[in-house]
Amino acid sequence: MSQFAQQAVSVLGSTGSIGVSTLDVIARHPDRYRAWALAANTSVDALREQCLAHRPEYAVMMCPDSAEQLRSSLPAELGTTVLQGEEGLLRIATDASVDAVMAAVVGAAGLPSALAAARAGKRVLLANKESLVMAGHLFMDAVHQSGALLLPIDSEHNAIFQCLPVDRGGRPGRAGVSKVLLTASGGPFRTWSAAQIAAATPEQACAHPNWDMGRKISVDSATLMNKGLELIEACWLFDLPAEQVEVVVHPQSIVHSMVQYDDGSVLAQLGNPDMRTPIAYGLAWPERIDAGVAPLDLIAQGRLDFEAPDTGRFPCLRLAREAVSAGGTAMAVCNAANEVAVAAFLDGRIGFDTIPAIIEQTLADIPVVEPDSLAVVESADAQARACAHTLVGKRKH
Ligand SMILES: NC(=O)c1ccc[n+]([C@@H]2O[C@H](COP(=O)([O-])OP(=O)(O)OC[C@H]3O[C@@H](n4cnc5c(N)ncnc54)[C@H](OP(=O)(O)O)[C@@H]3O)[C@@H](O)[C@H]2O)c1
Repeated sequence: MSQFAQQAVSVLGSTGSIGVSTLDVIARHPDRYRAWALAANTSVDALREQCLAHRPEYAVMMCPDSAEQLRSSLPAELGTTVLQGEEGLLRIATDASVDAVMAAVVGAAGLPSALAAARAGKRVLLANKESLVMAGHLFMDAVHQSGALLLPIDSEHNAIFQCLPVDRGGRPGRAGVSKVLLTASGGPFRTWSAAQIAAATPEQACAHPNWDMGRKISVDSATLMNKGLELIEACWLFDLPAEQVEVVVHPQSIVHSMVQYDDGSVLAQLGNPDMRTPIAYGLAWPERIDAGVAPLDLIAQGRLDFEAPDTGRFPCLRLAREAVSAGGTAMAVCNAANEVAVAAFLDGRIGFDTIPAIIEQTLADIPVVEPDSLAVVESADAQARACAHTLVGKRKH
């Protein structure tokens, strides 16, 4: 008999880059974890393959047609019930049988289910950084009120979590912390001139030098908006003012982030750039399990470089800081405008250098209000999307 109680895990966004890595880690530890439910948007074939391999209780497809296709293609003896839409997603995020929820839906669409998991007091493995960017206040309140265990999956925040002091309850504290050093690879255009960056194509933007990720986050890495969103995420997760979060460009992506202390110490977490490390950490915390990641060979690595970010060539980092200073719904507006602009860039409707211009104008046009409910946040998100769509229409190249 296994020495561990098997944990039931719902993987929201199971067909994406984080979802696939999560299922890889789960499959290495069948005595500890079971993929209890899987969810995707429209990728029927991929979800079907995952259902056959993991035999979950539930599979959710957001799109009703896709749900119907999946339902009719799964063998009845598998015993997997197919649900659909937001209702299905919320069900598998909160069901009493679920121990842990991997929140890995991409973008603002991931907020309601991640928030529901937090409200339901689950172990929440948070990959969907947009949840904290859009509704950090509501999200952290939900975590504190329900007693949910929030484990950051973004490699940088996971590294910071690992380097922070632990309080008497075993949770990360801030005693003696002077600042957090958030590392950034600098993305594929780190050494490009402003003119080269302006002419960048979606393929070039998605070719990240170190990480294999979904297309949206890959573009965010190329603009440095990913680091801007992570800055906001760090402020909420670790209850720090933005001035205490410094971005340091580290092109090798081996140091995943650092914490600097009042006594001059700097603690860092290092490892090969493979998301299975933070995923395994989130699943097993406070224990450690095999993640399938190759051991780091520092001698073969040879050198680790650090430099300051250039907000002249990469204005998105400045825009994210401005959104933090503006407070309220400004961060949700920044996120929504970015999503619209990135989608337009990936579709070839605007140039790469128009992405920050759309975000800046949307932030200027949408008034900031207090984000005291999910409805207020969703309304700010909708207004920002409408504004950004209009701006995209005017800028079309
Ligand atoms: N990839 C990384 O290394 C990484 C690192 C740190 C943080 N993150 C964060 O993790 C999240 C996921 O990133 P990713 O790179 O894994 O994204 P991805 O590869 O694009 O996968 C996104 C997943 O979400 C599903 N999805 C898309 N729209 C949805 C909707 N409206 N409702 C429900 N599900 C939907 C997709 O299903 P379909 O396949 O059907 O479209 C897919 O399963 C993002 O918030 C990202 O910022 C990612």
